[in-house]
Amino acid sequence: VAAPAQAAPGSDVDVVAHRGSSGAAPENTLAAVRLAVQQRSDVVENDIQRTRDGELVILHDTSLARTTDVEERFPDRAPWNVADFTLAEIRTLDAGSWFAPEFAGARVPTLAEWGDAVGRRTGMLLEVKNPSLYPGIAADLDRQLDALPVFRAALRADRLVVQSFDHAWLRTYDQVAGNVPVGLLFAGGPPTEAQLADAATWAEQANPALGDMTEATVDQIHSHGLETHVWTVNDGQGMRRAIGWDVDGVITNYPQVLRDILRRG
Ligand code: G3P
Ligand code: CA
Repeated sequence: VAAPAQAAPGSDVDVVAHRGSSGAAPENTLAAVRLAVQQRSDVVENDIQRTRDGELVILHDTSLARTTDVEERFPDRAPWNVADFTLAEIRTLDAGSWFAPEFAGARVPTLAEWGDAVGRRTGMLLEVKNPSLYPGIAADLDRQLDALPVFRAALRADRLVVQSFDHAWLRTYDQVAGNVPVGLLFAGGPPTEAQLADAATWAEQANPALGDMTEATVDQIHSHGLETHVWTVNDGQGMRRAIGWDVDGVITNYPQVLRDILRRG
Protein backbone atom coordinates (compact mmCIF):
# COMPACT_ATOMS: atom_id res chain seq x y z
CA VAL A 1 0.00 0.00 0.00
CA ALA A 2 1.43 3.33 -1.01
CA ALA A 3 2.20 5.74 1.83
CA PRO A 4 -0.14 8.75 1.92
CA ALA A 5 1.30 11.64 -0.05
CA GLN A 6 2.91 14.17 2.26
CA ALA A 7 3.15 17.83 1.37
CA ALA A 8 6.76 18.95 0.98
CA PRO A 9 7.89 21.48 3.59
CA GLY A 10 7.03 24.94 2.33
CA SER A 11 4.29 23.87 -0.04
CA ASP A 12 1.69 25.63 2.09
CA VAL A 13 3.71 28.47 3.64
CA ASP A 14 1.90 31.80 3.41
CA VAL A 15 3.74 34.79 1.96
CA VAL A 16 2.87 37.60 4.39
CA ALA A 17 3.74 41.10 3.19
CA HIS A 18 4.96 43.07 6.23
CA ARG A 19 3.38 46.56 6.22
CA GLY A 20 2.62 45.79 2.57
CA SER A 21 5.48 45.24 0.15
CA SER A 22 7.48 47.60 2.33
CA GLY A 23 10.90 46.88 0.87
CA ALA A 24 9.80 48.47 -2.41
CA ALA A 25 7.13 51.02 -1.39
CA PRO A 26 6.50 53.17 1.69
CA GLU A 27 5.29 50.94 4.53
CA ASN A 28 1.58 50.76 5.30
CA THR A 29 0.56 52.98 2.34
CA LEU A 30 -1.91 51.86 -0.30
CA ALA A 31 0.99 51.73 -2.79
CA ALA A 32 2.68 49.11 -0.58
CA VAL A 33 -0.58 47.16 -0.21
CA ARG A 34 -1.32 47.16 -3.96
CA LEU A 35 2.21 46.05 -4.77
CA ALA A 36 1.94 43.21 -2.23
CA VAL A 37 -1.29 42.03 -3.87
CA GLN A 38 0.25 42.30 -7.35
CA GLN A 39 3.20 40.23 -6.15
CA ARG A 40 0.76 37.49 -5.15
CA SER A 41 1.26 37.76 -1.41
CA ASP A 42 -1.11 35.41 0.42
CA VAL A 43 -1.60 37.87 3.26
CA VAL A 44 -0.94 41.59 3.86
CA GLU A 45 0.06 42.68 7.38
CA ASN A 46 -0.56 46.16 8.80
CA ASP A 47 -0.36 48.24 11.99
CA ILE A 48 -3.37 50.05 13.44
CA GLN A 49 -3.38 53.28 15.50
CA ARG A 50 -6.25 55.66 16.36
CA THR A 51 -6.62 59.38 15.63
CA ARG A 52 -7.80 62.06 18.05
CA ASP A 53 -11.27 61.87 16.52
CA GLY A 54 -11.46 58.10 16.83
CA GLU A 55 -10.60 56.94 13.29
CA LEU A 56 -8.54 53.78 12.83
CA VAL A 57 -5.54 54.46 10.59
CA ILE A 58 -2.64 52.39 9.33
CA LEU A 59 0.71 53.44 10.77
CA HIS A 60 3.44 51.52 12.57
CA ASP A 61 4.74 54.09 15.06
CA THR A 62 2.81 55.87 17.78
CA SER A 63 4.23 59.08 16.28
CA LEU A 64 3.78 60.34 12.73
CA ALA A 65 7.36 61.72 12.66
CA ARG A 66 9.34 58.92 11.03
CA THR A 67 7.09 58.16 8.06
CA THR A 68 5.44 61.50 7.23
CA ASP A 69 6.37 65.17 6.83
CA VAL A 70 4.48 66.08 10.03
CA GLU A 71 7.47 67.82 11.63
CA GLU A 72 7.63 70.33 8.78
CA ARG A 73 3.89 70.74 8.53
CA PHE A 74 3.13 71.01 12.25
CA PRO A 75 6.45 72.09 13.85
CA ASP A 76 4.93 72.97 17.22
CA ARG A 77 3.05 69.69 17.78
CA ALA A 78 5.91 67.41 19.02
CA PRO A 79 6.01 64.47 19.63
CA TRP A 80 3.48 64.24 16.77
CA ASN A 81 1.51 61.33 18.18
CA VAL A 82 -1.29 59.96 16.00
CA ALA A 83 -3.62 60.27 19.00
CA ASP A 84 -3.14 64.07 19.02
CA PHE A 85 -4.11 64.64 15.36
CA THR A 86 -7.49 64.47 13.66
CA LEU A 87 -7.96 62.35 10.57
CA ALA A 88 -8.39 65.54 8.50
CA GLU A 89 -4.98 66.77 9.66
CA ILE A 90 -3.32 63.43 9.06
CA ARG A 91 -4.78 63.32 5.54
CA THR A 92 -2.80 66.43 4.62
CA LEU A 93 0.52 64.68 5.36
CA ASP A 94 2.89 63.17 2.83
CA ALA A 95 3.59 59.56 3.84
CA GLY A 96 5.64 58.67 0.77
CA SER A 97 8.49 61.16 0.20
CA TRP A 98 10.56 59.90 3.15
CA PHE A 99 10.84 56.59 1.28
CA ALA A 100 11.45 57.79 -2.30
CA PRO A 101 10.45 60.86 -4.34
CA GLU A 102 8.20 58.88 -6.68
CA PHE A 103 5.88 58.16 -3.75
CA ALA A 104 5.37 61.84 -2.90
CA GLY A 105 1.78 62.50 -1.91
CA ALA A 106 1.03 59.01 -0.58
CA ARG A 107 -1.38 59.32 2.33
CA VAL A 108 -1.78 57.53 5.65
CA PRO A 109 -4.73 55.22 4.89
CA THR A 110 -7.73 54.53 7.04
CA LEU A 111 -8.41 50.91 7.96
CA ALA A 112 -11.39 50.93 5.57
CA GLU A 113 -9.23 52.08 2.63
CA TRP A 114 -6.59 49.53 3.51
CA GLY A 115 -9.22 46.75 3.47
CA ASP A 116 -10.50 47.84 0.06
CA ALA A 117 -6.94 47.84 -1.32
CA VAL A 118 -6.27 44.32 -0.02
CA GLY A 119 -9.53 43.25 -1.62
CA ARG A 120 -11.40 39.98 -1.77
CA ARG A 121 -8.73 37.45 -2.57
CA THR A 122 -5.79 38.21 -0.26
CA GLY A 123 -5.56 37.52 3.46
CA MET A 124 -5.40 40.23 6.13
CA LEU A 125 -3.21 40.26 9.24
CA LEU A 126 -4.25 43.25 11.32
CA GLU A 127 -1.92 44.29 14.14
CA VAL A 128 -3.31 46.56 16.83
CA LYS A 129 -0.44 48.70 18.10
CA ASN A 130 -0.20 50.02 21.65
CA PRO A 131 -3.85 49.31 22.51
CA SER A 132 -3.32 50.64 26.06
CA LEU A 133 -3.00 54.13 24.49
CA TYR A 134 -6.44 53.78 22.91
CA PRO A 135 -9.16 52.89 25.42
CA GLY A 136 -12.10 51.27 23.64
CA ILE A 137 -10.14 50.31 20.51
CA ALA A 138 -11.37 46.71 20.80
CA ALA A 139 -14.96 47.86 20.30
CA ASP A 140 -13.90 50.32 17.54
CA LEU A 141 -12.21 47.55 15.59
CA ASP A 142 -15.07 45.14 16.14
CA ARG A 143 -17.55 47.71 14.78
CA GLN A 144 -15.47 48.28 11.63
CA LEU A 145 -14.99 44.59 10.93
CA ASP A 146 -18.73 44.08 11.32
CA ALA A 147 -19.75 47.10 9.28
CA LEU A 148 -17.56 46.87 6.20
CA PRO A 149 -18.40 44.23 3.59
CA VAL A 150 -14.75 43.66 2.63
CA PHE A 151 -13.92 42.63 6.21
CA ARG A 152 -17.08 40.58 6.62
CA ALA A 153 -16.17 38.69 3.45
CA ALA A 154 -12.60 38.12 4.70
CA LEU A 155 -13.91 36.75 7.99
CA ARG A 156 -16.36 34.46 6.23
CA ALA A 157 -13.54 33.12 4.05
CA ASP A 158 -11.22 32.68 7.06
CA ARG A 159 -8.81 35.22 5.58
CA LEU A 160 -8.52 37.67 8.49
CA VAL A 161 -6.59 37.50 11.77
CA VAL A 162 -6.07 40.19 14.44
CA GLN A 163 -2.74 40.07 16.26
CA SER A 164 -1.03 42.03 19.04
CA PHE A 165 2.01 42.02 21.32
CA ASP A 166 -0.36 43.02 24.14
CA HIS A 167 -1.71 39.62 25.14
CA ALA A 168 -3.99 40.91 27.89
CA TRP A 169 -5.63 43.30 25.43
CA LEU A 170 -5.92 40.58 22.80
CA ARG A 171 -7.69 38.33 25.32
CA THR A 172 -10.20 41.13 25.96
CA TYR A 173 -10.63 41.68 22.23
CA ASP A 174 -11.25 37.97 21.72
CA GLN A 175 -14.06 38.16 24.27
CA VAL A 176 -15.62 41.15 22.47
CA ALA A 177 -15.17 39.69 18.97
CA GLY A 178 -15.50 35.96 19.36
CA ASN A 179 -15.81 35.37 15.60
CA VAL A 180 -12.41 36.91 14.78
CA PRO A 181 -9.32 34.64 14.85
CA VAL A 182 -6.47 36.12 16.91
CA GLY A 183 -2.68 35.76 17.04
CA LEU A 184 -0.24 36.48 19.86
CA LEU A 185 2.96 38.24 18.85
CA PHE A 186 6.07 37.44 20.89
CA ALA A 187 9.23 39.54 21.27
CA GLY A 188 12.34 38.99 23.38
CA GLY A 189 12.14 35.21 23.38
CA PRO A 190 10.07 32.26 22.23
CA PRO A 191 6.68 31.54 23.81
CA THR A 192 6.79 29.44 26.95
CA GLU A 193 4.95 26.15 27.30
CA ALA A 194 2.55 27.79 29.78
CA GLN A 195 1.82 30.66 27.35
CA LEU A 196 1.12 28.20 24.55
CA ALA A 197 -1.12 26.01 26.69
CA ASP A 198 -3.15 29.07 27.64
CA ALA A 199 -3.19 30.50 24.10
CA ALA A 200 -4.44 27.17 22.75
CA THR A 201 -7.70 27.69 24.64
CA TRP A 202 -8.59 30.94 22.89
CA ALA A 203 -6.13 31.97 20.13
CA GLU A 204 -5.29 30.71 16.65
CA GLN A 205 -1.70 31.87 16.09
CA ALA A 206 1.55 32.30 18.08
CA ASN A 207 3.94 34.52 16.10
CA PRO A 208 7.53 34.94 17.37
CA ALA A 209 10.55 36.58 15.73
CA LEU A 210 12.68 34.35 13.53
CA GLY A 211 15.70 34.88 15.81
CA ASP A 212 13.78 33.40 18.74
CA MET A 213 12.68 30.32 16.81
CA THR A 214 13.97 26.80 16.36
CA GLU A 215 12.36 23.89 14.59
CA ALA A 216 11.47 22.50 18.04
CA THR A 217 9.55 25.72 18.84
CA VAL A 218 7.59 25.39 15.61
CA ASP A 219 6.72 21.79 16.53
CA GLN A 220 5.80 22.86 20.07
CA ILE A 221 3.45 25.57 18.75
CA HIS A 222 1.86 23.12 16.32
CA SER A 223 1.44 20.53 19.07
CA HIS A 224 -0.91 23.01 20.76
CA GLY A 225 -3.00 23.27 17.60
CA LEU A 226 -1.78 26.81 16.90
CA GLU A 227 -0.36 28.19 13.67
CA THR A 228 2.84 30.20 13.54
CA HIS A 229 3.90 33.09 11.32
CA VAL A 230 7.49 34.20 11.92
CA TRP A 231 8.62 37.82 11.61
CA THR A 232 10.33 39.67 9.99
CA VAL A 233 12.39 37.62 7.56
CA ASN A 234 14.07 39.66 4.85
CA ASP A 235 16.93 37.45 3.62
CA GLY A 236 16.76 34.29 1.56
CA GLN A 237 18.69 32.23 4.10
CA GLY A 238 16.21 33.03 6.87
CA MET A 239 13.28 32.37 4.55
CA ARG A 240 14.66 28.94 3.63
CA ARG A 241 15.27 28.10 7.29
CA ALA A 242 11.69 29.00 8.27
CA ILE A 243 10.25 27.13 5.26
CA GLY A 244 12.27 24.03 6.25
CA TRP A 245 10.72 24.16 9.72
CA ASP A 246 7.29 24.10 8.13
CA VAL A 247 6.00 27.33 9.58
CA ASP A 248 2.55 28.41 8.41
CA GLY A 249 3.64 31.84 7.23
CA VAL A 250 6.71 34.02 6.80
CA ILE A 251 6.29 37.75 7.37
CA THR A 252 8.61 39.71 5.09
CA ASN A 253 9.23 43.14 3.57
CA TYR A 254 10.11 41.29 0.33
CA PRO A 255 7.14 39.10 -0.62
CA GLN A 256 8.45 38.76 -4.19
CA VAL A 257 11.70 37.19 -2.98
CA LEU A 258 9.82 34.73 -0.76
CA ARG A 259 7.38 33.89 -3.56
CA ASP A 260 10.31 33.13 -5.89
CA ILE A 261 11.99 30.90 -3.29
CA LEU A 262 8.74 28.99 -2.73
CA ARG A 263 8.22 28.57 -6.47
CA ARG A 264 11.73 27.39 -7.26
CA GLY A 265 12.01 25.17 -4.20
O1 G3P B 1 3.72 41.05 12.14
C1 G3P B 1 4.83 41.03 12.95
C2 G3P B 1 5.60 42.29 13.03
O2 G3P B 1 4.99 43.28 12.27
C3 G3P B 1 5.79 42.76 14.41
O3 G3P B 1 6.69 43.80 14.54
O4 G3P B 1 7.27 46.13 14.93
O5 G3P B 1 7.09 45.29 12.61
O6 G3P B 1 5.06 45.62 13.97
P1 G3P B 1 6.50 45.27 13.97
CA1 CA C 1 3.37 44.91 12.55
